[in-house]
Amino acid sequence: MKHPTETDALGEFLVSARSLAEYRAIFELTPTDLRGRILDCPGGAASFAAEAAELGAQVTATDPVHAKPAAELRELARTETERASAYAGAHRDRYRWDFYGSPDRHQSIRLAAATRFGDDLLANPDRYVAAQLPALPFPDNSFDLALSSHLLFSYTDRLDADFHLAALLELSRVTTGETRLYPLVDHTGHPQDDLVAHLRKKLHDKGIPTALRPTRYEFHRGATTMLVLQPNQARVRTHP
Ligand SMILES: C[S@@+](CC[C@H](N)C(=O)[O-])C[C@H]1O[C@@H](n2cnc3c(N)ncnc32)[C@H](O)[C@@H]1O
Repeated sequence: MKHPTETDALGEFLVSARSLAEYRAIFELTPTDLRGRILDCPGGAASFAAEAAELGAQVTATDPVHAKPAAELRELARTETERASAYAGAHRDRYRWDFYGSPDRHQSIRLAAATRFGDDLLANPDRYVAAQLPALPFPDNSFDLALSSHLLFSYTDRLDADFHLAALLELSRVTTGETRLYPLVDHTGHPQDDLVAHLRKKLHDKGIPTALRPTRYEFHRGATTMLVLQPNQARVRTHP
């Protein structure tokens, strides 16, 4: 299995900062979803955890970058946001701008999220756990819902199919309810349909039903579907 190296995890992946509004649209989150124990993996510099916690959810965000000192991570959140917005602006034809409106607004939304993340990191450091897939430091069934945005399927240039399967099994292990993943295209916008089909078959064979569910969010053109893992049927039978 091709595992991410420390350099990959800390240096080469974009550390993005999405907001609750973005996660709500991406994952079609309902008020009920936002009441339980939620895992955000990778959390990156997203303000989802801070904002959802304010609404009453118990959120844990996990990401290898959370190992960095808070001051360094707050600064990284800002510089990475500028990097992401500059990239999106330079490649604007790859994207649909319905959600953000314009590259400038994309930048202001993301900078607000990065700032919110940085503030919460100082106020609630226990919410942010340094760890990396495919091995998470949580007991089985720790969460009611797991959300995974912009890591799996996004970086197939460096994360292979075995890594994806191990990561999905790990997210499913720590979650009693659904695990939702988005997008199913890579970071250049190429659909990952063959990988998705391969993983769905492997998961099915291990007792984990999956579904493709439409999402109203679309930034990369054509990325209008999330992958949903249902609870592992073998575990449901053992622990009804
Ligand atoms: C593009 S960001 C996505 C962050 C957040 N989900 C969002 O949508 O804003 C990708 C994140 O994956 C993290 N990452 C890289 N390797 C990882 C791994 N093996 N396990 C968990 N997170 C990882 C990176 O550190 C980076 O913060």
